[in-house]
Formats: sequence, C-alpha cells, structure tokens
Amino acid sequence: MSVKQYIQDNQEKFLSELLDLLRIPSVSADPKFKDDVFAAAEFVRASLEKAGADKVELCQTAGYPIVYGEKIINPELPTVLVYGHYDVQPADPYELWDSPPFEPVIKKTERHPEGAIFARGSADDKGQFYMHVKAFEAMMANEDLPCNIKFMIEGEEEVGSEHLDIFVKENKEKLKADVVLVSDTHMISLENPSVTVGLRGLAYMQVEVTGPNRDLHSGTYGGAVANPINILCKMIASLQDENNHITIPGFYDKVENYSVDYRKALNDAPFDIEAYKKELDINEVHGEVGYSTIERVGIRPTLDVNGIWGGYTGEGAKTVLPSKAYAKISMRLVPNQDHKEIAKLFEAHFKAIAPDSVKVTVTPHHGGQAAVVSTDTAGYRAADLAIQEAFGKKAIPTREGGSIPICSLFQQELGLDPILLGFGLDTDALHSPNEHYGVKNYYMGIETIALFFKHFKNEASK
Ligand code: BES
Ligand code: MN
Ligand code: MN
Repeated sequence: MSVKQYIQDNQEKFLSELLDLLRIPSVSADPKFKDDVFAAAEFVRASLEKAGADKVELCQTAGYPIVYGEKIINPELPTVLVYGHYDVQPADPYELWDSPPFEPVIKKTERHPEGAIFARGSADDKGQFYMHVKAFEAMMANEDLPCNIKFMIEGEEEVGSEHLDIFVKENKEKLKADVVLVSDTHMISLENPSVTVGLRGLAYMQVEVTGPNRDLHSGTYGGAVANPINILCKMIASLQDENNHITIPGFYDKVENYSVDYRKALNDAPFDIEAYKKELDINEVHGEVGYSTIERVGIRPTLDVNGIWGGYTGEGAKTVLPSKAYAKISMRLVPNQDHKEIAKLFEAHFKAIAPDSVKVTVTPHHGGQAAVVSTDTAGYRAADLAIQEAFGKKAIPTREGGSIPICSLFQQELGLDPILLGFGLDTDALHSPNEHYGVKNYYMGIETIALFFKHFKNEASK
C-alpha cells in the first residue's frame, strides 16, 4: 500500500478523531477551561504515541505543557520539526454561533462545497496540526518515513506563547532539526495553493484614561469636567491621519520599503476584491493610502482598537459622566519593527497627547516579532514540490497579516526558517463565531505534508 492510499482509506477515521479533539474546549485564555487544556495535551500525547512516535512526553512549563514526540529513523537523515498549538481562542460570544462551538458539525459552504467542520479550533489550529499527526501515522504505517521527525505542539499560542521562549532556549539540542514545518496559516484556495512567506508582528496595549475621581452627574458636571471617554476617542482618532498613516513619532522608522517588482509580484497573486467586499458585506475597503489590500495586510503595519469600554452600557439611559475609560489597542508590525520598541513609542506618544484634564496609564500585553521566510531554501522548495505534486500547480508565495511570534524565535534561536504550509482559507472565520475548516483542505493537507517529507529528503541532501 502507498502512503496516499493509506490516507484515502483512513479518511473517515482521521476525521472522527479530529472531531473528538475538537470536542475538548481547550481555551488557554480562560482559567475556567484549565482541565480541558490539559485534557487536550493528553489527547495529543496519546495520538502521537499511537501513531508511532518515541519519547513522547508532556514537557511541563510554568503554564500549559508542550507535547513532544519524535521518530529518529536514522541520524544521518534530515530532521523535520513540526510545530503547532492545541489551545484555541475563547468561543465567545456563544450566541453568534449557528451550532455549539465544541460540538463539531459538518456543513457545506460556498467556499467548501464538499463540507467544512464547524468548531472552535477547527482551522486554528487543531485541524491543521493534527494533519501532521495523521501524515506521520500514514508514513509510519507504510514504513515510509523519509526523514526524522520531531513534534512540538504547545498549548499557549493564543495567549502569546509565554513559556515557549524559555523552552526553546533551554532545549536547543532536543529541538535540533533541519527545518520547522508549521500549518497554522492560510492558503489562497485549493485552486490556488500558496505558501506563507511572511507574518506580521504584534504589539498589544491596554490604556486607561481617568478623569474625575468618581462617576459624576452629567448635568451638574457635564461640559465643565473632562469626560475620559470623549478624550479617549479623540486620542485614538488622532493616532491615524487622513491617509490612515499612523502618527506615532518613529513608528515607521524601520519599516522596509519594497521595490516595485516585489510589490507587483505580491499583487499578481489571485485576489478578488469584489468577492472580498461581498463576503464581508462592506461597500468599500479601507486602509493606508497608496497601498493595495494585499499590501496593507502583508507588508504594512497597522493600528486597531480591539475593544473600548467605560461608563454606562446597560438598559435605558443613565446620565453619567464616567470617571474612567479603557481601550485595548493592537499594532500589527512588519519585519525590523521591534515590538518592545514600538510599545515604548506608543506609550510615550499616548501620554504626550493626553490633555492635563485626564491621567493616562498604558500597560503592554504580550507581543511578538514579525517574520519573513526565504523562498530559496530546501524547505521552501520541498513545500513547493509537494504542492505541485498534490495540486498540480506551483505554490504562490504570500505574506499574511496574522502573527505567530514563535516563528522569529525559531529563526533566532534554532537558525531555522519556518515553512508555513497552511491549508485554512481566509474566510474560515478564525477567532470568530462559526470557525470552520474544509474537510477537503484537511485531507489535501495530510497528503501534501506526507509529500513534503519525501521532497525534503531530496532537497536537503542537494
Ligand atoms: N494561527 C494564527 C495566526 C495566523 C492566522 C497567521 C491566520 C496567518 C493567518 C495564530 O493562532 C494567532 O491567532 N496568532 C495571534 C497572535 C498571538 C500572539 C495571540 C494573532 O495573530 O492575533
Ligand atoms: Mn494558530
Ligand atoms: Mn489563533
């Protein structure tokens, strides 16, 4: 039997196992789900062992464990390190889901005519990292594992991979490999397969604006005392100018300007702006003047308010001049922008623009660096060849707007470029209600990953 045949014969089993994993609500951000996050780690541990991995263990950290497993068939052969995460985003707001987030169902959609699995974590990242476990199982079952393999599946990606940093730094020997393979990103479509060659970084801030020392009657004091919500809105509005350019001094200092050719190549990727607008129900796109939508997401930094609150938001009307206003503000960064430096620039600027009538505190949350991946490596060539064999088309290199902070750590600490071989679609609703993952994407992913190993063995020995 061939690996491909094994994958085809086991489609149903592979799917039902994934559904079991998706039933575990492993939300890392919410301590309420602590036991479930551990249960997901245990599920991954058991599935690696069953697939044939050696030295499978839960590596304890100060947070959630990292699941490790390996199969070293021959130390002379190249080694692939697979990274993924078993934790998921919170599913809130539950009422916006058409079916319960941890009770997976399969439904057809316009972009997934053959069906998609609806569940939190289906695309991000359980459905994607589990493809690697299944590809490994298929290769093992056929005694056809072309390279050594190491798995590192963590449980804190969605909360900033706080403890992975130390783990990678302390376990360089254990993690030694020739390439890192990650499926936690998007592809353009099954018709236009792509490999991600860039991810943005992230700086995430919380701000608190305080006006008077208590909530006030908005009639007695309104107009005479600063309203921190009014002030916060003005401050936020001033962070972008009329060209949607960010106004924080120094913010763009290290942002790379790309050549006309590079930008043209990016914009040559298939992208249907009308379908994009239609899918989001918007009349017009928005962003930095002078850049296309692909560029705005892929190679330009941005600033967004993720949440804003304060004052009275209950039923009816309460006339109140609130004492405090809050916002969570994130900045997506591009290569060379250091997230700690940007956090400092933000803080200094935000304090500088605050009027004397309010007090401001700024607290940084987790952040991460951007990453760009070379297309001139054995890993990229192997990914491209695997895609060509599975899809009959060359891979299109794309730059994506999301962040996987660990990628730059792999480059820095292990000297390895991650190969971002993702099979989700941008419409799969990651982090949103009704997250889903195409069943066909899942199967094609498993097949492509197995092919990657075959091609990497050749490419790495050239
Ligand atoms: N898998 C995503 C990142 C992603 C999504 C990259 C889509 C490319 C396309 C990852 O799980 C994620 O959500 N990352 C966070 C950052 C993290 C520090 C919480 C993000 O991008 O918001
Ligand atoms: Mn992810
Ligand atoms: Mn995510």
